[in-house]
Amino acid sequence: MEIHIVQNAERGAEVVADVFVRTLQEAGESGTVLGLATGSSPVPAYAELIRRHREEGLSFARSRAFLLDEYIGLPAGHEQSYHHFIRENFTSHIDIDDAAVVSPDGASADPVSEAASYDRRLREAGGVDLQILGIGSNGHIAFNEPGSSLGSRTRVIGLARSTIEDNARYFDTADDVPVRALSQGLGTILEARRIVLTATGAGKAEAVAQLAEGAISARWPATALQMHPDVTVVVDEAAASKLELADYYRYSRRLEAEHPLLALG
Ligand code: PGA
Repeated sequence: MEIHIVQNAERGAEVVADVFVRTLQEAGESGTVLGLATGSSPVPAYAELIRRHREEGLSFARSRAFLLDEYIGLPAGHEQSYHHFIRENFTSHIDIDDAAVVSPDGASADPVSEAASYDRRLREAGGVDLQILGIGSNGHIAFNEPGSSLGSRTRVIGLARSTIEDNARYFDTADDVPVRALSQGLGTILEARRIVLTATGAGKAEAVAQLAEGAISARWPATALQMHPDVTVVVDEAAASKLELADYYRYSRRLEAEHPLLALG
């Protein structure tokens, strides 16, 4: 894992945006499949990518995008649906075709079939080139709550109480938060060719420490990412505050800056 400890969310957004640009450049004419996340963590990176699109000509015209997850029971147009969120915060502000932004159908009458079909559609698209992730305070990625199988596929999952409490801020009351979601599984996410995870704030410090330095375990689902060969983690000082090896990560990033061909982590 390549861990970047940054001074603030703005600097973190630049580091994440650089990973997107590298992936888009590598794909060239053939275009990329982007894996997009909702939640507050990726929003500064999306804002930076929108800025680069507007001011520097960064183009997503050849990209397709797949969302990580969706609440069950909210129609696509609901303002708290992830279908709506990603358009509001990112894709309607760049030059990606709206029909190329795909998410699980949370209003499907048969969510179990919808989950299997979503996994299939991801595979048929050739898989995800770059997946952006946040992390829950309980260590979830997407809605893979503690206890999720490390090999899980896209499926219906019940939200943990802590997730409902964390997400209640977007709804009138905690009772309005849907209790089930369709979520890519940990095994699905691990098939992405490159992953960038971003987190800020002390509330994420324990989850970030487990992600990078904890034992791989369903107890902290994000630890599954330790098995992936190309993961960049971008955290501010508060989210990094429980990392025992923080000095080593800083040293590694300095070494890489001095020797551009090195890629440590
Ligand atoms: P947040 O959520 O980015 O809004 O903190 C992250 C998550 O729960 O995965």
